[in-house]
Amino acid sequence: MPAPIRTHDGSHTLLHPQLLEHYHSIHGAIAESMHVFIEYGVMEVSAIPIHILEIGMGTALNALLTRIEADKNCRQTYYTTLEPFPISNQTASTLNYASQLNVSHHDFMILHHSSWETMHTFSPFFHFIKIKSTIQQYNADSKFNLIYFDAFSPDKMPEMWTEDVFEKILQMLHPGGIMVTYCAKGSVRRLLMRVGFEVIKKPGPPGKREMTLAIKKNSN
Ligand SMILES: C[S@@+](CC[C@H](N)C(=O)[O-])C[C@H]1O[C@@H](n2cnc3c(N)ncnc32)[C@H](O)[C@@H]1O
Repeated sequence: MPAPIRTHDGSHTLLHPQLLEHYHSIHGAIAESMHVFIEYGVMEVSAIPIHILEIGMGTALNALLTRIEADKNCRQTYYTTLEPFPISNQTASTLNYASQLNVSHHDFMILHHSSWETMHTFSPFFHFIKIKSTIQQYNADSKFNLIYFDAFSPDKMPEMWTEDVFEKILQMLHPGGIMVTYCAKGSVRRLLMRVGFEVIKKPGPPGKREMTLAIKKNSN
């Protein structure tokens, strides 16, 4: 079982044993997720309800932060997350996100314990479904307002950062919808532009100069 590692803001992350890459920035796991996915994701989109797709559920930190945000703002949120290689419940139970965020351990663990391929309502505002699938195999039956692209890096997992995957993501978004990623690589931005996204640089989370927001133009 991979042991949790404390990042600079006190929140945990995990090291992927084969890729030797962390699930989050070591400069602060919660700080990074809040910045990239909540501040430049959820807060940039006005749709109510908001339909979010996460690519790579991992520790479920993004899911927990999104639920907290939904409950705080009484905003109806439908959250679909893909994860082909889930961490064990035992590993999840060692992570300190609930205490760091001042929510119950149950509200965090239920994201891991809940059954796959079933829509669960965990609060009056947060509806959650996790799907054991890769992005490459996933067939969405409806469109999303916001996509969290939280894959391991292009160096470690080049098969995630391809024209085919970005084309698929474009098709899964409503016009005006946003895909957000921590990655700021020029080659990734150029690929996103090539498939038809409008690409905007935003300031990065702690330890990183920039991140990327990709918008599906209304004409696409
Ligand atoms: C950087 S981690 C995600 C961190 C996560 N969002 C969190 O809040 O902890 C990348 C995740 O993508 C998953 N993954 C790997 N290959 C994938 C694929 N082809 N499609 C979707 N997810 C994949 C990994 O198993 C891993 O959990």
